[in-house]
Amino acid sequence: MTGNLLLWLLPVTSLLSCPTRQARLTVSPSSSQFFKGDFVSLSCEVDGRSGGWTVKRNNTRRWMTQCEEWGKPEGSTCNISYVLPLDSGVYWCESSSASSSSSSSSSSSSSINISVSGGSVILQSPVLPVMEGHDVTLHCQTKSPPSKLPADFYKDGSLIRTEPTGHMTIHRVTKSDEGAYKCSIQAGGESASSWLLVSGSPPPPPPPPPPTIFPLILHLLVFCLYLISTLLMVSTYRQKHSDNCLLVSMAMTSLDPAKEEPGDVVMTELRT
Ligand SMILES: *[C@@H]1O[C@H](CO)[C@@H](O)[C@H](O)[C@H]1NC(C)=O
Ligand SMILES: *[C@@H]1O[C@H](CO)[C@@H](O)[C@H](O)[C@H]1NC(C)=O
Ligand SMILES: *[C@@H]1O[C@H](CO)[C@@H](O)[C@H](O)[C@H]1NC(C)=O
Repeated sequence: MTGNLLLWLLPVTSLLSCPTRQARLTVSPSSSQFFKGDFVSLSCEVDGRSGGWTVKRNNTRRWMTQCEEWGKPEGSTCNISYVLPLDSGVYWCESSSASSSSSSSSSSSSSINISVSGGSVILQSPVLPVMEGHDVTLHCQTKSPPSKLPADFYKDGSLIRTEPTGHMTIHRVTKSDEGAYKCSIQAGGESASSWLLVSGSPPPPPPPPPPTIFPLILHLLVFCLYLISTLLMVSTYRQKHSDNCLLVSMAMTSLDPAKEEPGDVVMTELRT
């Protein structure tokens, strides 16, 4: 009984805790740097679904502005059809319900940095943290035409490699590979720098939602189920033993109440 009840309650609890799930901001094309004029699509995803989340950003000019002001929103996606250098900034997803209230700490995704270049060279590096042990490739790109020219790669300001084809692969990244990377192409110029982040392990599951009115709903649900099941049990019991009940009532009416205790009759009749 308790097992069935819990099984039944599971979908209800997950439904109720939905709005507080953690979202993830993804960028398409997947890069942390873009050329002026590129098309960029930002999307908030929650376990493969999306909805109820808004893309927000901080740039050098304004803080906490939302998609409507600089992009084209559609559901939890925000498209910028022609990015400009002033679109450079930090972007994140925020739960729509939280944007109206003051508590937003538990309903924001982790943030990502996007940099838009008005120049002619960008570094294409992963916009999301790279898992430790994975390979990562950085591309040094010129605006037009996209070339495979030799490029110099810098980490935290120091030259680390010169690659003849303009891309650099780091095999099996470790925490020590984390840092600010940039590249330059001779006669092309230098890119902005972007942070490469390395994550140690898959992100832990989000903590359960804080208890608010939820326990109340749960108690109400349990009580209702208890009531329904009790009523059901009583009705089936009455159906099964309707013959006995009839016998009992008949027996009771035919007896002299002064001679015998009615309780005894009920006991004997029920045993048959
Ligand atoms: C955006 O700017 C506000 C105001 O300075 C700050 O509180 C907030 O932490 C910033 N958000 C991110 C993701 O950097
Ligand atoms: C945003 O871009 C995506 C991917 O290119 C596209 O599927 C979607 O229709 C676009 N939405 C809007 C509102 O432009
Ligand atoms: C974003 O950029 C700032 C400074 O440029 C840096 O401190 C921060 O770690 C970056 N965040 C991410 C997620 O790359």
